[in-house]
Amino acid sequence: MSNQTIVVGAGSGYDKVRIEQQDVPAPGPGEITVRLRANSLNFHDYAVVTGLWGGVAEDRIPMADGAGEVEAVGDGVREFAVGDHVVSTFFPTWHDGEAEVEGFDTVPGDGIDGYARERVTRSAEAFTRSPSNYTHAQASTLTTAGLTAWRALMEDGGLQPGETVLIQGTGGVSIFALQFAKSCGATVIATSSRDDKLERLRAMGADHLVNYKRDAEWGQTVRDITGGRGVDHVIEVGGPDTLAQSMTAVRVGGHIAVIGVLTGVAGEVSMMPMLAKQIRLQGVLVGNRRQQQDMVRAIEANGIEPVIDKQFPLNELADAFRYQETNQHFGKICLDL
Ligand SMILES: NC(=O)c1ccc[n+]([C@@H]2O[C@H](COP(=O)([O-])OP(=O)(O)OC[C@H]3O[C@@H](n4cnc5c(N)ncnc54)[C@H](OP(=O)(O)O)[C@@H]3O)[C@@H](O)[C@H]2O)c1
Repeated sequence: MSNQTIVVGAGSGYDKVRIEQQDVPAPGPGEITVRLRANSLNFHDYAVVTGLWGGVAEDRIPMADGAGEVEAVGDGVREFAVGDHVVSTFFPTWHDGEAEVEGFDTVPGDGIDGYARERVTRSAEAFTRSPSNYTHAQASTLTTAGLTAWRALMEDGGLQPGETVLIQGTGGVSIFALQFAKSCGATVIATSSRDDKLERLRAMGADHLVNYKRDAEWGQTVRDITGGRGVDHVIEVGGPDTLAQSMTAVRVGGHIAVIGVLTGVAGEVSMMPMLAKQIRLQGVLVGNRRQQQDMVRAIEANGIEPVIDKQFPLNELADAFRYQETNQHFGKICLDL
């Protein structure tokens, strides 16, 4: 049985990406075997494959997001049956409750092998069911980008109808945040570096648009849009170069979900606005399995569909990441397995 698998060799880098055939064990008690059909790309996966934050120490199967159908079920598994459509969880061991994981040691595609392969046998609790009527590619966008936006707004943010949400750029997390916020009756202020992308955001329901490339003081512009009050929630994906503007944009006592590092992992932060405005800065590392199950139900109830920009075959993984590097995409990039 073919089990094409992508492996990134020690040190990482596109030149260390190779294709292998690997055996897949039959499922033991509590395990399922999944015929994976799709992955979606995240900035984190890009960092693992290219070695941006330090290369992998040993051979690693990349990709945190995997979706497919259950092919075999081990003893004691009641949640899934053969043929069910499932999607992986970012933290296979964090099932519910308060954050209990630190870093990426347990994360597929980073600390443990991921889902850039045709088949995997793993604990059933490392998956949830996919939304009904989703394609596998659509389902694969939920593990990282979808759940991060969901947890930031719905769990940490406790988003209420009528509140205002600021999203930055048009990557996977931000587009999901737009969709979840609009489905809750929130007002969305969206930024992008490109006017054509801003028009697409408008078509998806964004209420106010700001080009952050042309407007260096976009934080003040966002605050002005709210009549000077500031936004209730910021989906902060930029990192060190955007945090100061986000703190300008947020209201007194508002919530900044500290999510992304698109402009780097370190920089200067002024403490003053944080204290003066009593801002709630909440670090986010995706979410837990129960949150993913909640999100799947909400997606079904609201008919939300992810925006997929482009799909590549598995063996073109490096080309897919090169495309991601260009920032041309709007929403998600996926791999078909
Ligand atoms: N903490 C977590 O749990 C978690 C989970 C998922 C992702 N993340 C992080 O969140 C960030 C976004 O992830 P993603 O998967 O959504 O990335 P992505 O899909 O690759 O997003 C790229 C987009 O971000 C926008 N962007 C780039 N630089 C920007 C800047 N300086 N200011 C505002 N927008 C900027 C651009 O949009 P325009 O072209 O429209 O300008 C770009 O197209 C990454 O740093 C990722 O590592 C964190």
